[in-house]
Amino acid sequence: MEKVNKYLRFLSPRKQHQNEETELYGQGMGKMKGDLEIIIWRLTVLKNPQLYNAIFHRKSIRKYDMTPLPTETLATLKDHASSAKPLDESIRYEFVHLYSADVKNLLPIKAPHYICVYSQIKGNYLMNAGFLLQQVDLYLSANNLASCWLGIAKPSKEVPKQINGLEFVIMLAFGNTTEPIYRTNTSEFKRKSVSEISCVAGADSILEPVRLAPSSSNTQPWFFSGEVEAMTVSRKKLNLLKAAFYGKMNQIDIGIALCHFWLSVDHLGQVVRYSFEKDAAPNGYEFMVKAMISQ
Ligand SMILES: Cc1cc2nc3c(=O)[nH]c(=O)nc-3n(C[C@H](O)[C@H](O)[C@H](O)COP(=O)(O)O)c2cc1C
Repeated sequence: MEKVNKYLRFLSPRKQHQNEETELYGQGMGKMKGDLEIIIWRLTVLKNPQLYNAIFHRKSIRKYDMTPLPTETLATLKDHASSAKPLDESIRYEFVHLYSADVKNLLPIKAPHYICVYSQIKGNYLMNAGFLLQQVDLYLSANNLASCWLGIAKPSKEVPKQINGLEFVIMLAFGNTTEPIYRTNTSEFKRKSVSEISCVAGADSILEPVRLAPSSSNTQPWFFSGEVEAMTVSRKKLNLLKAAFYGKMNQIDIGIALCHFWLSVDHLGQVVRYSFEKDAAPNGYEFMVKAMISQ
């Protein structure tokens, strides 16, 4: 392989455990256009407090220094990505790293690097993608790197449509920037108040980090109802016109909010379990998941 490192796949830990990747890689290689290298990364544990703290300072950056990041920085990122926690363990996924030339974006946002989620298309795959990639977004911010979710950008034609049977879902641009990448105060976030996104008594402190989550066009489609120990998480129903674009994006947004929810509960020394069994939602909202908190 002469041109290595073109599409770098960050493998999910589940597959590393199953030790099936060498086999799958061997098959995939033949089908793809060469220029491809797959690396199985060492499994490390993400530091949740580091991610939790990033929630209160992160912001989207849309201007990048196009100098590629050092190989060691990318290697450490791959390490962390490969230990990300999925929302739904039954969904197969992979992180894929693309360079600038591999991405088509209608908006003029150019970055030296992009990290994509490729996934099996089933059940909660959109929420799962949001949950996974937000762990990377927070990790980048915690490590002084700029990032921005991109809902419109797609891999270019040269990138295989499917990778190992998985389809492209969403990507995050990242790299260095000369702009300040942090907010110093949560008042700088343009967000709804907790009372606008929740009717749960006594849940304000748990929901504060959730309120600050990023969402497509800052739509913040989430709503929390029920009791603190068993909260129903719903998403705002959309009219047909809005559903055409935001129907998918809003589900990714909910996954992002659930990632912040998990980090928030973890910060309080408690555990959250998500149940996808359908239940009632408030008027104008669609049920997404139930969040059950225990000690
Ligand atoms: C799923 C998703 C898709 C997004 N797509 C784009 C995009 O295509 N272009 C863009 O400039 N920002 C995009 N954003 C960034 C949001 O506009 C941004 O997160 C939101 O306005 C809140 O601002 P903040 O991230 O600076 O807190 C996207 C965010 C999410 C979560």
